[in-house]
Amino acid sequence: MAPLNLWLRCETKEFEHRSALTPSTAKKLIDAGFTITVERDPQRIFDDAEFEQVGCTLAEHNSWPNAPLSDPIIGLKELPPNDTSPLPHTHIMFAHCYKQQGGWEEVLGRWKAGLPTAMLYDLEFLQDERGRRVAAFGYHAGFAGAAVGALALAKQVGSEGEAARLGEIKPYPNEGELIKYVQGQMSAIEAKLGRKPRALVIGALGRCGRGAVDFFKAAGFEDDNIAKWDMAETAKGGPFSEILEADVFVNCIYLTSKIPSFISPESIAAAGASRNLRVVVDVSCDTTNPNNPIPIYSINTTFDKPTVDVAGIKEGPPMTVVSIDHLPTLLPREASDAFSNDLLPSLLTLPQALAEREPRQGKPVQASEAGTGPERVWKEAEALFWSKVAELPQ
Ligand SMILES: NC(=O)c1ccc[n+]([C@@H]2O[C@H](COP(=O)([O-])OP(=O)(O)OC[C@H]3O[C@@H](n4cnc5c(N)ncnc54)[C@H](O)[C@@H]3O)[C@@H](O)[C@H]2O)c1
Repeated sequence: MAPLNLWLRCETKEFEHRSALTPSTAKKLIDAGFTITVERDPQRIFDDAEFEQVGCTLAEHNSWPNAPLSDPIIGLKELPPNDTSPLPHTHIMFAHCYKQQGGWEEVLGRWKAGLPTAMLYDLEFLQDERGRRVAAFGYHAGFAGAAVGALALAKQVGSEGEAARLGEIKPYPNEGELIKYVQGQMSAIEAKLGRKPRALVIGALGRCGRGAVDFFKAAGFEDDNIAKWDMAETAKGGPFSEILEADVFVNCIYLTSKIPSFISPESIAAAGASRNLRVVVDVSCDTTNPNNPIPIYSINTTFDKPTVDVAGIKEGPPMTVVSIDHLPTLLPREASDAFSNDLLPSLLTLPQALAEREPRQGKPVQASEAGTGPERVWKEAEALFWSKVAELPQ
């Protein structure tokens, strides 16, 4: 088999500093016989030179449309909007068009127009043999969410009005600096509260939840003051008064159906002046979902305005919600490292999957034809692509 050239494209989404490949995973792929082209990208957390040093070839920013059709193009986020040109390459990325999201027909239609050479392997749907995602950003979403929650709490205790509002937050060069910064705020939080702060995490056994718990521990919250809830603890049905007793509540559940609210305007009002809760971090961010179990806010917040006030608070301290839907961007280096390392075993099997696709390029396959070899992750993703293309209006 000729060596496969994998093409790492730039990211064009604002504030996106993460990368699907890192210098370390690129090196491992090169050691395994790949060649790698890396587009110059000033917004990527890793310097272009770091990739060059491990043997990658640098290419101009955003030049992938001119790459050979045999080169799979790997990236993370959506391609720039308002472009309907056909996509004849194989793309590995999060395309956000398989759940009939707004504009999905136009997005997926670009691959259909790029057939027979086109293919989309959507990173959100790459699954191992047990149906679990091979790579996801959840852990660092929870870790970063808990950090933003602690930062918002630090601002809100002992201050009022706009002075109590957390301002713009910027990505941290590494996890250690973020932890150190929040640790530095802990004694002020304790002094102003007159006790140790308390956190409650729901979905604590999942990826995001584990990240949130790990952050609170690293920042200096005492283990006894971090309530870790999952299905067993919420089985009795909300709203839960325990949430209002914590200072920060982080929601990390994977919502699949309608469940009783965890917290509501009524439960907040009922707690009156006895409420401790000041900050809710909704990592799950089911903001516009009618089944959102946190029906106390209605917008997604952003890195430049991380919190939104909970309206209608009459007693107790002011309360805010953090509902940022791209939290891992706070820690682009570690988030990219973890994601890319998890993706690596699958990437190593990509040449095999592509070689087997070559002779029947453009012909739909079924998931049942994916086989059992390690490369089946790509074949199942290919079958999914075909099933989604079939949903497009003719
Ligand atoms: N805001 C962001 O930047 C960001 C980034 C990544 C993921 N997410 C979102 O975070 C959510 C969680 O993702 P994940 O990868 O951690 O999922 P996961 O499947 O790994 O974990 C979800 C956890 O929630 C628990 N859970 C589900 N329903 C529950 C309930 N009713 N009560 C208590 N626990 C419950 C599950 O048992 C599981 O432990 C998803 O909605 C995902 O889209 C957000």
